[in-house]
Amino acid sequence: MNWLDVVAEEDLADGAAALFRAAFGGEPGGVWIAPGRVNLIGEHIDYAGGPVLPFALPYATAVAVRRREDAMMRAVSTHTDNSWTGAIDEIGPGTPSGWAAYVAGVAWALQEYGIGGVDVAVHSSVPVGSGLSSSAALECSFALALSELFDLQVERKVLIEASIRAENEIAGASTGGMDQNIAMSAQAGHALLLDCLDGSTRQIPLDLGASGSRLLVIDTNAPHRLVDGQYGARRAALDTAYAALGVTTLRGLDSEQAVSGLDDDILIGRVRHVISEIRRVEQAVEILDRGAAGTELGELMTASHVSLRDDYEVSSPELDSAVDAALRAGAYGARMTGGGFGGSAIALVPSDLIQAAAAEISSSAARSGLPEPTFLSAEPAGSAHRFF
Ligand code: GLA
Repeated sequence: MNWLDVVAEEDLADGAAALFRAAFGGEPGGVWIAPGRVNLIGEHIDYAGGPVLPFALPYATAVAVRRREDAMMRAVSTHTDNSWTGAIDEIGPGTPSGWAAYVAGVAWALQEYGIGGVDVAVHSSVPVGSGLSSSAALECSFALALSELFDLQVERKVLIEASIRAENEIAGASTGGMDQNIAMSAQAGHALLLDCLDGSTRQIPLDLGASGSRLLVIDTNAPHRLVDGQYGARRAALDTAYAALGVTTLRGLDSEQAVSGLDDDILIGRVRHVISEIRRVEQAVEILDRGAAGTELGELMTASHVSLRDDYEVSSPELDSAVDAALRAGAYGARMTGGGFGGSAIALVPSDLIQAAAAEISSSAARSGLPEPTFLSAEPAGSAHRFF
């Protein structure tokens, strides 16, 4: 079985700084680090004003950054030979494309606060394209770097917004904001209850071990892409539903009442998912507040997966295989996490069954001719910070 080691922050920072020296010469002005994430529950409802419950992973992205005297930007990464050089005022939708859009987009979004040119070198332990928020880790580490290097004196809220704009407007992925919020607000040992209707947050202690369970993060290694139209189509479907129902949010609506106002089966499924998922997050919070986890939380997770698979139609054969295998192996519950269409799943497993569950998930993938999954540590980590 394939477990992904956690890379110590020091090694991550060293990797970014070493690349910086090799690419640009001299020392970086500092190194900033931001984490990837999983979402415990509350999927595809951040952009619908729902509550979500993500936590940060101990896998993160480090950026080594130095100010320049001009308004140019150079960006390099240990993950690719594709570097990018350009003027900040040339950045716009689609320019640059690819990974550099996420850093260039943040610079673009923070221009009005008075930033100048920079050189940036990236090194990350967040698997890319696995639905574990490698893009938000990149945006948020870089946003914090710019904010400190140019002494912007802005709150993290501004950096979160800039990171979301980079992703939506420059990279062209119409994602909702959960990922940037958790990267900037995570607290070690906690999940973040983020209410996307009013932006309020509450840290919720997440000590699954105390109730005899552990969370298994499964990267199915089936690439997930959020810029290919399916994600945007889900958002568009909800806009159609709002218009048909004459509402601006599904929050507070009763599912039966809402779907009785719709006649399109696909739309009915989309709306049913959003309303039921909002309720599941509320129930999950009640359970965690009681210090419980195990069966009760597991059942909600599995119900969330079924809803995402059948009503929202964002799962994939790889994700379904991982979830089914985890449940067969005795997991309390399991679900896809993140945007879906490939990517990662999570399973809540009795502590003593963790190895057996991972083995069953791996062999089940092999039997079905699916890629071999990778398992990750799920110790809730802290938020974006300066490393040196
Ligand atoms: C992606 C997006 C988030 C969220 C999830 C689904 O991770 O970036 O904003 O919509 O998908 O819950």
